Amino acid sequence: MLTHLLSVEHIYKSFDLKSGSYAVSDVGFTLRRGECLGIAGESGSGKSTLIRMIARLSDVSPGPNGENGYINMSNKTISLWPPHLFASHPLRKKIQMVFQDPDSSLNPCFTAFSSIADPLRALCGMRKKEEIKKRVYELADLVQLPHELLSRLPHQLSGGQKARVGIARALAPGPDLILLDEPTTALDVSVQGRILTLLDDLKRNLGLSMIFVSHDLSVLKLLCDNILVMLRGKTVEYAPVEQLFSNPASGYGKSLLEAMPKPPGRSSQPPYSGPAM
Ligand SMILES: Nc1ncnc2c1ncn2[C@@H]1O[C@H](COP(=O)(O)OP(=O)(O)O)[C@@H](O)[C@H]1O
Ligand SMILES: [Mg+2]
Repeated sequence: MLTHLLSVEHIYKSFDLKSGSYAVSDVGFTLRRGECLGIAGESGSGKSTLIRMIARLSDVSPGPNGENGYINMSNKTISLWPPHLFASHPLRKKIQMVFQDPDSSLNPCFTAFSSIADPLRALCGMRKKEEIKKRVYELADLVQLPHELLSRLPHQLSGGQKARVGIARALAPGPDLILLDEPTTALDVSVQGRILTLLDDLKRNLGLSMIFVSHDLSVLKLLCDNILVMLRGKTVEYAPVEQLFSNPASGYGKSLLEAMPKPPGRSSQPPYSGPAM
């Protein structure tokens, strides 16, 4: 019986095999349907490289001793498919990615409507105008994007609205797994909070599985069931979220927790009670 939607075992990535340096080194994890895995770690730790391999945008490399890891999705070893052939793989539409910067991932000449309709045509073979329109409106509702914004180009939308278009676009082909690479990093805190709430609702209502990359542990705490922390391409923590927050296994995990901004509330200062009378 299939218990895991995704299994990643012992995968490596080197951009320069001759040098023997690895951007991702012997990383593995599993993800069940409806679960969210958070991937944390400082800039350059290999987070994007890891999820780009899962999205099949980039190939895996052999390990230093020639070992071959694998990426298994719905019982198919998708890492055996080279990225340029994965476009025609039946699982292609089941894995979708949301990028950090909507300004580079959304086509500046496409209205929000066209951006969301594009994967419906390209990946689902939808042709009928009325059918496409109905589905785009459904997706806009799902990500709480008002219909009147659908005729706008990316530069006429706010950061939060662009993030919603990116999420709607990823949801369009009905994926089982969404990979989100720091999708809220460029947003201010209140907009970030609303997008995280939206993703949490989508996870619950659609039973979506997600991998959410962020260098910010407080963002991952809200959404994720398990967290994997990377440092220089390697796994330093892989644990359920409560366990990581209560008892990190590594000194690095502990230092990340200590560096988290403290929530506002109790402080050593007495509350301000107005001007002295
Ligand atoms: N296309 C590439 N060519 C060469 N090196 C790369 C490429 N992409 C990433 N790297 C290197 O791989 C390492 C991990 O990068 P990345 O996965 O982008 O980290 P993160 O997403 O955690 O910030 C970095 O040292 C980065 O410079
Ligand atoms: Mg990155």
